[in-house]
Amino acid sequence: MANVFLTAVLFVVLSSPSFQETVAQTSSFDDNFIKTCPATNFNSSPDGQIWYLSLDKSSGCGFETIDSYRFGWFSMKIKLVGGDSAGVVTAYYMCSDCKNLGAGPERDELDFEFLGNVTGQPYLLQTNVYKNGTGGREMRHILWFDPTEDFHSYSILWNAHQILFFVDKTPIRVYKNANYTNNFFPIDKPMSLFSTIWNADDWATRGGLDKTNWTLAPFVSSYTDFNVSACQWVDPYPACVSTTTQNWWDQYPAWHLSDDQKLDYAWVQRNLLVYNYCNDTKRYPQVPEECWLSPWD
Ligand SMILES: *[C@@H]1O[C@H](CO)[C@@H](O)[C@H](O)[C@H]1NC(C)=O
Ligand SMILES: *[C@@H]1O[C@H](CO)[C@@H](O)[C@H](O)[C@H]1NC(C)=O
Ligand SMILES: *[C@@H]1O[C@H](CO)[C@@H](O)[C@H](O)[C@H]1NC(C)=O
Ligand SMILES: *[C@@H]1O[C@H](CO)[C@@H](O)[C@H](O)[C@H]1NC(C)=O
Ligand SMILES: *[C@@H]1O[C@H](CO)[C@@H](O)[C@H](O)[C@H]1NC(C)=O
Ligand SMILES: *[C@@H]1O[C@H](CO)[C@@H](O)[C@H](O)[C@H]1NC(C)=O
Repeated sequence: MANVFLTAVLFVVLSSPSFQETVAQTSSFDDNFIKTCPATNFNSSPDGQIWYLSLDKSSGCGFETIDSYRFGWFSMKIKLVGGDSAGVVTAYYMCSDCKNLGAGPERDELDFEFLGNVTGQPYLLQTNVYKNGTGGREMRHILWFDPTEDFHSYSILWNAHQILFFVDKTPIRVYKNANYTNNFFPIDKPMSLFSTIWNADDWATRGGLDKTNWTLAPFVSSYTDFNVSACQWVDPYPACVSTTTQNWWDQYPAWHLSDDQKLDYAWVQRNLLVYNYCNDTKRYPQVPEECWLSPWD
């Protein structure tokens, strides 16, 4: 994903990195993130528990975790820009090489991208996976609620067996590494967590037909309840990467969908999936290999 909003970037280190051993626990924004954002485009609630990122004509805003991780559970509650948000994209993603708003040529990446819309029309949630700099694994869903009215949680479960993209309790996307056969599975590069808000009116809404209406700026996305339980990366190699099964996100039940998750997932695919790269034979005359891996295994 390209972060094209940058004009002036200020790095505000909110606190020094915490020296947790290996498993990071739930904690506040200030302990976990740095902002990549001009001060004018960032705000927080008086108690510091809600963060507001804004986009105006001069800049967007972003933040990123101080630490990186390999495998774990990553979750945040987000409330998206309401009203006419056409052209505005809120991205929420994990990436192995996107520090300082970059996008390294060999990065692994897991994306949630919320594509805004004109008033009354639904947001699209686009998810994507990159491995070693190659992406093109887009799926698009509409949601079963208005994501601009309330906070909802958006989460990633990542272990060696599967990557699940969750909206609240529902897995909307299953990306398998069944029996280690998926060469397109991000597995070996530690990733950090990011979020940004930026202008993408050249493509985001109805393929770029609906433009950002700058008279409505600033456009604001809100964040709260960051929840990470993960193996924190420490060079050269943290012990927790190989001691699987010590944490719930790495244990057998987290290698597969549960029966309840299967029902929810099937419902979402039937009712809310609007694009799946696996079925785009114009773009991929040969179906990408990971498309053959069954989400039910
Ligand atoms: C990753 O990509 C780089 C350049 O794009 C390439 O040179 C390298 O061989 C790739 N690595 C793997 C493991 O595919
Ligand atoms: C994984 O693949 C190997 C070799 O193809 C096979 O012997 C083994 O049974 C498979 N394991 C599982 C759990 O599917
Ligand atoms: C915006 O609304 C239009 C009309 O309902 C729809 O076709 C489109 O998929 C929606 N989302 C985006 C991001 O374009
Ligand atoms: C942009 O927003 C302003 C203020 O609400 C409105 O008057 C105008 O019609 C909007 N422009 C477009 C193209 O929707
Ligand atoms: C963090 O997420 C996990 C997994 O969903 C959950 O069990 C735990 O209660 C959450 N912690 C907080 C403080 O919300
Ligand atoms: C879409 O792709 C998936 C994965 O390759 C496949 O299982 C499914 O049958 C396809 N659906 C359609 C409608 O072609």
